[in-house]
Amino acid sequence: MINIPSGKGTKLRMFVFLSVLISIFFYSTTKAQVIPIETDSSAMVLFVTKNKEVRLRYFGQKLNDVKEYEQFTGQLHQASDPSGVADAVYSSAGSRNFFEPAISVIHADGNTSLALRYVSSDVKRISADIEETQLLLKDPVYDFNVKLVFRAYRKDNVVEQWSEITQNENGAVRLNKFASANLYWYGSSFWLKQYHGDWAREMQPEVTKLSHGIKTLDTKLGTRADLFQPPVFIISADHKPMEDQGEVMLGSIEWSGNYRVDLEVDNRNNLRIIAGMNNASSSYELQPGKTFRTPRFLYTLSQQGTGQASRNLQSWARKYRILDGEGGRLTLLNNWESTYFDFNEEKLKNLLGDTKKLGVDLFLLDDGWFANKYPRNDDHAGLGDWQPNRKKLPNGIQAVVKDADKKGVKFGIWIEPEMVNPKSELYEKHPDWVIKQPDRPEYYFRNQLVLDLSNPKVQDFVFGIVDSLFIKNPSLAYIKWDCNSVIYNAYSAHLNHQSELYIAYVRGLYKVLERIRAKYPQVPMMLCSGGGGRVDYAALKYFTEFWPSDNTDPLERVFMQWEYSYFYPAISMAAHVTNWGRQPIKYKVDVAMMGKLGFDIPVSKLKPEELSFCQQAVQQYNKVKDVIWHGDQYRLISPWNHDFASLMYVDRKKDKAVIFSYLVSNRYDAGSELPVKFKGLNPDQRYKIEEVNLYNGAKSSINDKKDNTYSGSFLMKAGFNPVVNSRRASVVLVATAVN
Ligand code: DGJ
Repeated sequence: MINIPSGKGTKLRMFVFLSVLISIFFYSTTKAQVIPIETDSSAMVLFVTKNKEVRLRYFGQKLNDVKEYEQFTGQLHQASDPSGVADAVYSSAGSRNFFEPAISVIHADGNTSLALRYVSSDVKRISADIEETQLLLKDPVYDFNVKLVFRAYRKDNVVEQWSEITQNENGAVRLNKFASANLYWYGSSFWLKQYHGDWAREMQPEVTKLSHGIKTLDTKLGTRADLFQPPVFIISADHKPMEDQGEVMLGSIEWSGNYRVDLEVDNRNNLRIIAGMNNASSSYELQPGKTFRTPRFLYTLSQQGTGQASRNLQSWARKYRILDGEGGRLTLLNNWESTYFDFNEEKLKNLLGDTKKLGVDLFLLDDGWFANKYPRNDDHAGLGDWQPNRKKLPNGIQAVVKDADKKGVKFGIWIEPEMVNPKSELYEKHPDWVIKQPDRPEYYFRNQLVLDLSNPKVQDFVFGIVDSLFIKNPSLAYIKWDCNSVIYNAYSAHLNHQSELYIAYVRGLYKVLERIRAKYPQVPMMLCSGGGGRVDYAALKYFTEFWPSDNTDPLERVFMQWEYSYFYPAISMAAHVTNWGRQPIKYKVDVAMMGKLGFDIPVSKLKPEELSFCQQAVQQYNKVKDVIWHGDQYRLISPWNHDFASLMYVDRKKDKAVIFSYLVSNRYDAGSELPVKFKGLNPDQRYKIEEVNLYNGAKSSINDKKDNTYSGSFLMKAGFNPVVNSRRASVVLVATAVN
């Protein structure tokens, strides 16, 4: 209740009161007109125009005062925008817009126009660090609205954005396009770093200047959707992306299916970024009263190059997204490459012994342990029949798990629950559970087909595979979840609207993963996809780590893990020592140590000096893994344009750092001629530098120095030479703060 005072001085008080009311009114009006979405260092600022259109008029470094964003608009002297809506916060098709739309619909009455006007906005504080802005837009003619949600993580400078589309018309509305985000970036030139790939060639980078018109990044593979093009990209303004300078954006779609990103440089040279699910063959019928929620688009903006941007993203991912991102991980021995499908209980028991001998935490049993009518002895049969193979494992999985318990190692298991071989009992019993066109020949990818996860019965089946493994083996400690096939012949016997299958598939997958995590919240799970090609930040909500590639040649992994590291932290990147590549075991182990270390080699065939090296390396890894998993990563020397690569991890207190260097060239005398400038240390702190991961009895001139302490300032300004050359092809250094 407002209490208006009376008596002496009433007029004055009344005047003050009215002034306050008026200023509150104007403040709130102004507030409604300028909507800043800020993190600690970046801002996207929306302006509501007089006719209630919402424009994105500022995208860049955060300014000191909100009022200054309005001043910015006065500084723009670009050509006029004849559409009037190029910078719309969510551009719709069918009215004035002639650029790529974020949303395109056919209304219940068949009309194809859509105009979205401001209704309201609201800011919610979710935690001390997270602020969520919701913006409601509505069509003045149709009962159709879009809520845009912007979630800002202030410290890590990360924003997640998505949209919620609702309609209350007199019938279904067809959504032909439904982006998550529509950004507008003022500038004169932009560069794109995108990625392409294939099996064993994941994360190949390509940098190009964006020309006028539209560049689309997308995928239509359905499952393992990112095989040819992962949903991550970098955009820099004014010049190619640089590690420590310049304005860059790292972006990604949080969606484990078909996605699409349109990068449109418009007539004024500004960049429009429209990102979301792929609408190709995926129009969606939205019923009255229903809401269609898009996946999240994720980005971070940095004015200090890709280095700072990726540290922001890695820190955000550990804190807010990757399952148990701030926890621990298990080192392991996998049997895939040492046995393939050829093993039995006895062999596995020996491998459990090798796991113990090596000193890693867990033994991971890979493909080939299941199916009886059509035994899984190669990749042509058995997928879908998840009963232990009686010939290989007469006493079931339980006998192996029991032996693991006895030997004091943990046990994990491989599954590929979304898939089926036509040669399986599952296919014979439930052909209608399989994605395939009823009247067309079947196509296979690795001799298999994809189960229809849009069907709740299939969801129950897939959940049941995991659930029954845990029920029968309560001490099961790890799951490797594989996914080898793409979707051919997209057709669901369950769905009424076939164009919704790609979306319904991914939603069905998430439902299963939600159920698994509700019942088994902590068990580590690796996201694998016939190598890499499936990782994204929606999936990593359920997985603790991912498999970057079947290509474990350490030389290739130096490049691949380097590129993945722009987007994903080391704790999430499974890296195994295998027989791929001709490098010595030290090089292989040193490379795997920059991620989450594992082994997939026949330990019994290692030479004694190799085995003892591996054993020591595992112990060494245990000493520094916290820094690698939870510290800040700095890329120092790029393998793409040098003879060697260097990168380092520094713990949050700047007390400890691990520095990895790898020779990547065979040329004469290739190596580290000059010192490498470290990053991220405390300049005023002295650090002892020690070389680790040496073969038994091997000497290091670095360790032999009388005084091997240096100031952080020296290490960062003058640098330190790891002495990388053909005799020392990989070098691991540990810097420890000393008094
Ligand atoms: C593909 C994976 O990438 C491999 O690591 C292995 O698990 C095989 N599948 C098993 O079939």
